[in-house]
Amino acid sequence: MPSTLPLGDPVPADGSFPTAVQQALPSRAEVPFGLYVHIPFCSVRCGYCDFNTYTAEDLGPGASQLSYPDTLISELVFARGVLDSMEAPERALSTVFFGGGTPTLLPPEELARILTRARELFGFMPEAEITTEANPDTITEETAHILAQAGFTRLSLGMQSAVPEVLKTLDRTHDPANVERAVKAARAAGLQVSLDLISGTPGESLEDWRSSLEHAVALRPDHISAYSLIIEEGTAMAAKIRRGVLADIDSDDQADKYLLTEEVLGAAGFDWYEVSNFSTSRATRSAHNLNYWVDSDWWGAGPGSHSHMAGLRWWNVKHPAAYAQRLSSGTTPGHGREELQDEDKVLEHLMLRLRLADGLDIAEYNELPELARTQGEQITPATMDSLVQDGLISAQAAAPTADHREGRAVLTLRGRLLADAVTRRLAPE
Ligand SMILES: C[S@@+](CC[C@H](N)C(=O)[O-])C[C@H]1O[C@@H](n2cnc3c(N)ncnc32)[C@H](O)[C@@H]1O
Ligand code: SF4
Repeated sequence: MPSTLPLGDPVPADGSFPTAVQQALPSRAEVPFGLYVHIPFCSVRCGYCDFNTYTAEDLGPGASQLSYPDTLISELVFARGVLDSMEAPERALSTVFFGGGTPTLLPPEELARILTRARELFGFMPEAEITTEANPDTITEETAHILAQAGFTRLSLGMQSAVPEVLKTLDRTHDPANVERAVKAARAAGLQVSLDLISGTPGESLEDWRSSLEHAVALRPDHISAYSLIIEEGTAMAAKIRRGVLADIDSDDQADKYLLTEEVLGAAGFDWYEVSNFSTSRATRSAHNLNYWVDSDWWGAGPGSHSHMAGLRWWNVKHPAAYAQRLSSGTTPGHGREELQDEDKVLEHLMLRLRLADGLDIAEYNELPELARTQGEQITPATMDSLVQDGLISAQAAAPTADHREGRAVLTLRGRLLADAVTRRLAPE
């Protein structure tokens, strides 16, 4: 089962924000605003995955795939009402992301209906990026066409590997041929394509990983996310590793695979823009994910979804039945919330920007009002120098002029392997 949610403070039944957050909303009018739509269904649960998703078997009474689109739409209507009641400034959505679970387990017409309702309620910016995740065996030419007609611009396919044995260990239901067909269908419909890959599956050799990277590149996607496998507590895979059925992951193997990722993707024209994300150009970076990493605002709709607006974070009840019950009684589906404290804001700014190829702007960081309020230490030229000397951040980006204070902390390849350690060296005392 998926992991549990943090507790936080209770969310009031009408979903309204604390007064200080309401007062901050007008200052966020120009900040990008995104919508995340969670579709919590999968045909099979992959043994490594702890996302909040349910097979038909483990869904239980009180929720169904059939009624889910209407329930989800009722949260969108609720969200509109919450924002209106606080007189929040009008903000059209710059990105929409349908994730899961497997969004494409729902009929594409239903995804289209949800998207149309989101457009009616919030409006879309011109050139809005509208993505849906999809499992490769759920996409046909017709599905892709309906999604594109509805306004989706991008399909993110969970390819994971090109090696049948590895796909088997991951409990995937698709085969490599499904991926190729899905990419072709997406292309024919005019959708951008992103592929998700996972490295470090137990039993995967370095040559297996090379093969997955090469197959992915040969499909000419616009974007590739290459994640190192994380063994999540409570998953079937974690249990198999504990019992010795599968080998544990190995950090040296993961590092070798990251180096190979950089080599193969780099040679094929994919540049990293976040530690695990690569694209063929700035225009094909994931705008939605970038918004998460640069402290923008987003509403996360669906069971277990997290939202962030103006420093307020909240998260919805996890089970689809509890979620449906809350909304049918006109109550917020919010389970808990927290206002980010200054220390958290500083650390998040540092940690998230450092993972981006655009890096951490030192002057901007040193002047964060939250850093001053917590009397945290600024980043000094001496710290930057020592990180450059250790080969962890780029010398060129750190000091475009003689004064490091004009520079940015941008991770080198070695730095990306040790990103957490670099964060600790930069973090305020
Ligand atoms: C919600 S899933 C993607 C959509 C779709 N359900 C699928 O799997 O094809 C998002 C992505 O997270 C990644 N992911 C999930 N669990 C992971 C784990 N334990 N370690 C690393 N990556 C993981 C996978 O690459 C997956 O494609
Ligand atoms: S299909 Fe995707 S969301 Fe569903 S269990 Fe597998 S990885 Fe998780």
